[in-house]
Amino acid sequence: MQLIRRNRILRAGPAIRSLVAETILTPRDFIAPLFIDEGENVRFEIPSMPGYFRRSLDGTLAEVKDLFGLGIRSVLLFVKAPDALKDNTGREAWNREGLMQRSVRAIKDAVPEMVVMTDVALDPYSSYGHDGIVRDGRILNDETVEALVRMSLSHAEAGADLVAPSDMMDGRIGAIRQALEENNYTGVGIMAYSAKYASCFYGPFRDALDSAPGFGDKKTYQMNYANRIEAIKETLQDVQEGADIVMVKPALAYLDIIREVKNAVQVPVSAYNISGEYAMIKAASKMGWLDEDKAILETLTAIKRAGADLIATYFAKEAVRLIS
Ligand code: PBG
Repeated sequence: MQLIRRNRILRAGPAIRSLVAETILTPRDFIAPLFIDEGENVRFEIPSMPGYFRRSLDGTLAEVKDLFGLGIRSVLLFVKAPDALKDNTGREAWNREGLMQRSVRAIKDAVPEMVVMTDVALDPYSSYGHDGIVRDGRILNDETVEALVRMSLSHAEAGADLVAPSDMMDGRIGAIRQALEENNYTGVGIMAYSAKYASCFYGPFRDALDSAPGFGDKKTYQMNYANRIEAIKETLQDVQEGADIVMVKPALAYLDIIREVKNAVQVPVSAYNISGEYAMIKAASKMGWLDEDKAILETLTAIKRAGADLIATYFAKEAVRLIS
């Protein structure tokens, strides 16, 4: 044969392959989600997320220092609220002395350079396990947005760098942005979960925080996974309302959405490699059916290749070890 193009030349060995690689993971790509609980010396392994822990604040601080030392520059905080503090208003969510607020202060104090993002949604504080206030079996939009605004302001006051609304109520980004402006938190950003789909892959996360919905599902606010154009609509709207970073969630079954969103907006795009995606790799490798390290790198590289500038992932720490 006489060929003009021999594509295998650029795949011949590791060195040449690395020279022409289009996508390279770095520790700066990752946002490490952290589950925080009350108490001391608590280190609870989430049964459906082997190797991932819910920690009390003392252990969380050690973990944040560890992550920073590895080159990771962002954490996304979730707290587990005791049942006694849950109600239908979610008021614990903006308690100045609440676990989230104490955690933000302590982390910013211990590692000031770490970019601290906070989850904004009512589900950990809701007696119904929903992301909003419930009346007659419905999730109220506008009343919930008011609560999310209070919650965001209290995170800003505690020192959060970005608030991350994950609730999918209409109009919340604009309302939060306006409230931050009015209250002089002009340095606080918003990472909007813009295209968040109603997904079965959130199951392990709801175990981690004991936040599964008590009735029904989240389909009246989270998006239908059958839809693509709607993701662009949601994302453009959030950008217009003042989002600094937008997010697509989940990631793996939504790589097409990540790419379309990336092409449609001029703000950084993040993707959330969620709990169920973590659990699948852990389970298959435990069975001996997948090589865990390779599966992690292939997955995260694919998410970045699809267009994610940032990836929230429970594999952040392992991935940094694998790439260094
Ligand atoms: C709650 C929230 C969820 C996740 C992040 N924030 C779960 C849900 O919407 O029910 C999921 C994260 C994951 O599965 O890793 N607002």
